[in-house]
Amino acid sequence: MSKGHRLNSAIIKLMAFFHLTFIGGSRTFQKFPSLTNKVLTTPENEVTMEKNAYDDHVLHSEGFEREGCDYTYNGLSLSSVISRVETPSYIYFLDILARKIQELRDFSTSINGSGTDIFYSVKANPATQILTAILESGLNVEVSSMGELDHVLKTGFNPERIILLGPGKEEDLIRRASEMHIRGIIAESFRELELISKYYDGNMVVLVRLNMEDETSKALESMSGSESKFGIDVKNLEEIVRRSRFVPEGKFGFQYYLGSQVLDYKESLRLHEKMLSYMQRFRERVDYIDLGGGFGVPMTPKDLKFDFGSFSSGLNRILRDNGLDGKKIWFESGRFLVADCGLFVTRIVDIKTAGNGGTMLTTDGGMNNFFRIAFLGADHPIRAIGSGTTFTLKPATVCGPLCTPIDCFGKNILIPDCVREGDPVLIFKAGAYGLSLSPVLFLLQKVPGEYAVKNNKLGGSNHPPIGAETVLSFIYARDGSELH
Ligand SMILES: Cc1ncc(COP(=O)(O)O)c(C=O)c1O
Repeated sequence: MSKGHRLNSAIIKLMAFFHLTFIGGSRTFQKFPSLTNKVLTTPENEVTMEKNAYDDHVLHSEGFEREGCDYTYNGLSLSSVISRVETPSYIYFLDILARKIQELRDFSTSINGSGTDIFYSVKANPATQILTAILESGLNVEVSSMGELDHVLKTGFNPERIILLGPGKEEDLIRRASEMHIRGIIAESFRELELISKYYDGNMVVLVRLNMEDETSKALESMSGSESKFGIDVKNLEEIVRRSRFVPEGKFGFQYYLGSQVLDYKESLRLHEKMLSYMQRFRERVDYIDLGGGFGVPMTPKDLKFDFGSFSSGLNRILRDNGLDGKKIWFESGRFLVADCGLFVTRIVDIKTAGNGGTMLTTDGGMNNFFRIAFLGADHPIRAIGSGTTFTLKPATVCGPLCTPIDCFGKNILIPDCVREGDPVLIFKAGAYGLSLSPVLFLLQKVPGEYAVKNNKLGGSNHPPIGAETVLSFIYARDGSELH
């Protein structure tokens, strides 16, 4: 490894370490001046906005309801919760997470295999509050780096509850995972397969990740196709099987993962059918099939929920048709488990009128805290809450505080005109690939806080936001002695 690479990876590990370890310092709670702690009840006849002007369908199904100019979760006023947290911050509703875990478990038991296991993809959200809930639920975890491996071990996961995958694994990582006997390792290339064989003592499950050159998923984030860096193309199947002979019977299989945020179960089945039919020829050799992740969540009122019932019937048929029923089946899941439980909360710093007469809101958190919208154009429900009792909904542009035009959450967002500077803007369905995907060092603004709500109470291991310069000074405090 070059010196530059060593330094970069050391910095990344230190940042992750810093983020996970130190941003839980104690600070006093900041209160929003314009918020009260009680539910804001607005008499229907005083509300001048059109009924249903907000389409909150995707929020209702998770337990969020509008109450006048406020929202509630399970009867709990969000403005009262937010009055006790500093912004920008993420709030995780752990009862929603528990419900999602149960839904995925119910689905997994309907698959005809000789055992189905679910692995939570830590990259979706490594927050301590989330991981602890996953640990206590009994679910396993999927990690994709040394940092994630260290983090889940520190959280309390035993090696047998961990699988490792992801492209570009360094030898150190493969050696460490093999020596501690994690449950399984997924090879993304022949080089990785070779390195695994070098440290292998027959204890781990070894899977090879397959890619289909001629097939790209229609998902928002596709993970396959001819230019894909993931896995080995299926046209090399024979060679893969030959070069995996070092893996004993009962420990070998394949993994594939084609795309994220998949809502169309029929499209998903079409791709599974294609991929599983390639494996048919080697069904005697295959003990495990990891079908990847990618289950989506509805983001807009027109999105349909992923139909797990129809998917499981279809998948059972495909497994049977290919002589693969009775294999051990694994699923990985990030987004489905954690997206809906996360709320990103930022506070309005400035309200002004733009040159074209439109309303412009600037918030204290931006794409440095929540990158998904600027990066992927992801469609999240965005709402603002205030303390007024009568209001009209008006379109506004909502942007973060960074010096770049791409730092915007959206145009034509309906905002109640009772909202003032200091009031919160809420971005729902923000629990997956939120903070973990965000460039927190840009402009040295704040690194967001993280709080959890469980049984209608705010509590647990919460931490307020901190200035990003603290992260930077932690990195620069190193003396550079590794450079010679
Ligand atoms: C290999 C692998 N498995 C699982 C996941 C989780 O995907 P999702 O959050 O869409 O379920 C990812 C996400 O990038 C991934 O790369």
